[in-house]
Order: sequence, then structure tokens, then C-alpha cells
Amino acid sequence: MKDTLILAFESSCDETSVAVIKNGKEILSNIIATQIKSHQRFGGVVPEVASRHHVEQITICTDLALKEAGVTYEDLDAVAVTYGPGLVGSLLIGIMAAKSIAFAHNLPLIKVNHLAGHIYAANLVSDLKYPFMALIVSGGHTEIVRVDSPGEFKRLGDTRDDAVGEAFDKIGRVLGLKYPAGKQIDQMAQLGNDTFGFPRAMLQEDNLDFSFSGLKSAFINTVHHADQVGEKLDKNDLATSFQECVVDILTEKTFRALKNNPVKQLIVAGGVAANSGLKKRFADEITKRNLDLDLIVPPIRLCGDNAAMIGAAAQVEYDKNNFTELSLNADPSLDFE
Ligand code: KG4
Ligand code: ZN
Repeated sequence: MKDTLILAFESSCDETSVAVIKNGKEILSNIIATQIKSHQRFGGVVPEVASRHHVEQITICTDLALKEAGVTYEDLDAVAVTYGPGLVGSLLIGIMAAKSIAFAHNLPLIKVNHLAGHIYAANLVSDLKYPFMALIVSGGHTEIVRVDSPGEFKRLGDTRDDAVGEAFDKIGRVLGLKYPAGKQIDQMAQLGNDTFGFPRAMLQEDNLDFSFSGLKSAFINTVHHADQVGEKLDKNDLATSFQECVVDILTEKTFRALKNNPVKQLIVAGGVAANSGLKKRFADEITKRNLDLDLIVPPIRLCGDNAAMIGAAAQVEYDKNNFTELSLNADPSLDFE
């Protein structure tokens, strides 16, 4: 069978990324220009600044992606792009680039849900077997999704308030850490103990939704109170206590979902999937519960935002001949349902 080459774009937040993916499995190139340094002094992503950076970077990244892959526009079979969820101004830059190339080179255009991209990042490292379960944990999302067949997603659980990565970043700010703080909290958490016992918000028994705002408030109150009375708290213990609490909640809900929906594979995707405490706990839990379940966590460079994952998800639509019009618009609050 003839190989399929997809040129993929990702620009939903603060990474401009362009990739060339072969058959939805092989990364020929995956160029990622991160803007983190520009946003750090503001403690979070500034949408206007993000859009400007995407404009500056997108053609450079496209040229690099083609060059590194050793292909030209003539070799491509399709162009794919994230159309949501994300920042509208940022999404539009990727969409404009993808549309222009699709039009100029007469290539089919494929629209990709950013969350589907995070899930299909797993396809770049393992062969996926349907049905499977995915836990998406990123700066903007905390969702449990069952994938019954290629590109068919059923959302089983969602966050009621803050996304888990957002909670990491917010408490990181209180600890005086740079944005995004997840990685550093993860490192600190390995040095401390869970001495604070923050509340585990599990919501109702049969529920698969998440809530992290109570934990965030408890954390912030603890730190502020200590500041007021001049008490010095151990930052590593704070980090461990926070992370243990998050991991407990994610574990409880994910394995509850697995109990009701027996599958053979569990994918953990999104930036927070890089968390070492989470990975370890899930692996331990599978052993402890004696489950016949493959845990698939993409490597760190594929957990964060990147266009390779968009190319992998696009291949699923390509195989279904699911192409989109050049009138495609951004959908900032796109979800699975
Ligand atoms: O998927 P992603 O790159 O962007 C979104 O689509 O949101 O996720 C970024 C999030 C940030 O909140 C960051 O703090 C978090 O992932 N993160 C981590 C770790 N590495 C990145 N959170 C916990 N532990 C980590 N090791
Ligand atoms: Zn993401």
C-alpha cells in the first residue's frame, strides 16, 4: 500500500509546531517552537503575545519540518490542523497556514480536535487496540475518554472547575515557581513527604468527574496562613502533599472508569502525563489490581503540545476520507460532546 504523508499544524496555545507524519505512525519531523519564555514574566499565556509569536514562527517551522523530513509539497497527501479547543487567535494562525498550503498545492484539508491529538500521540509509540481508555491531563483539560473505534470518542468524565495542569501552575505561582510549574513541582515532590493531607475531592461515588479548585484553595490558604503567622513551611512537603492528592484523585476516578468499562489499553496523554508520580502510581495500581491492561504514556516530547500528535490523529480521518472545506473556522471551546 502507498505511504501517506501528512503535513500537520498545531498552534492552539503557546507552541507553534509543524510535523510531517508517515502513515499516522512515523515521525519524519516534528518542529516545536515554544513561547514559554515570553509568557513567563506574566505568569501565564497572554493570548495577544501568543498569536504574534505564531505569526512569526509558522512559516519558519513549516520550512524546517519539510526540510528535516526530506520532502516537498508535491510528496504530501494531506494537510492537517488543530481547529480547537484553544485560544482563538492562536488557532487561526495554524488554520490560515494549513488552508493556504492546501489551496496552493491542491491537497485535502483535515481538521483535528486538539484532544484527539493528545490521545493519538500514543499511536506514535504503540499499536492501539479498540476499545481503549484515555485519561487526558493537560493545562486546559482533565477528561476520561473511551475510544470505541478509530476517531469515535465518548467522554466519561470531565473537570467541574480547574484543569489539573492549571492547578499545578497556580499553586506553583504561590510557591514562587516559574510558569509552567508542573515539571518543577514534580521534581520537588520527589524530595518531600505528604504531611499536609489536603482534601481529596471525589464528588459522588458513581461519578467520574474531577474537581481541583477545593484542593487549590486549601493549598493557597495553608501557604497564606503560614505567611501571616511567620511560619516557614517546607516547600518540598507542600509539593508532595499537593501531587499525592492529585494522583489519588486521578487514580481513583480512572480505575473506577476502567472497572465499568473493561478495556485492554489505558493511554495517559497531555502535558501532565509527564508527571513521574502519576506514571508510577498507575503502573503500581495495575500490578496491585492484577489487571490485564497495557499502560501507554507517550514520551515527554509527545505529551506536551506538538504537531506530530495532530498528524497521527489526522491519519484516522484520512483513512475515513473525512476531509474538510477551506471555509474551516476555529472552534475555541470544541469538545468531544
Ligand atoms: O498538554 P500541554 O503541553 O498543554 C495544554 O494543552 O494545556 O500541558 C501543559 C501542562 C502545564 O500545566 C504544565 O505545568 C503541565 O502540563 N506539566 C506537568 C509536568 N510537565 C508539564 N504537570 C505535572 N508534572 C509534570 N512533570
Ligand atoms: Zn495540549
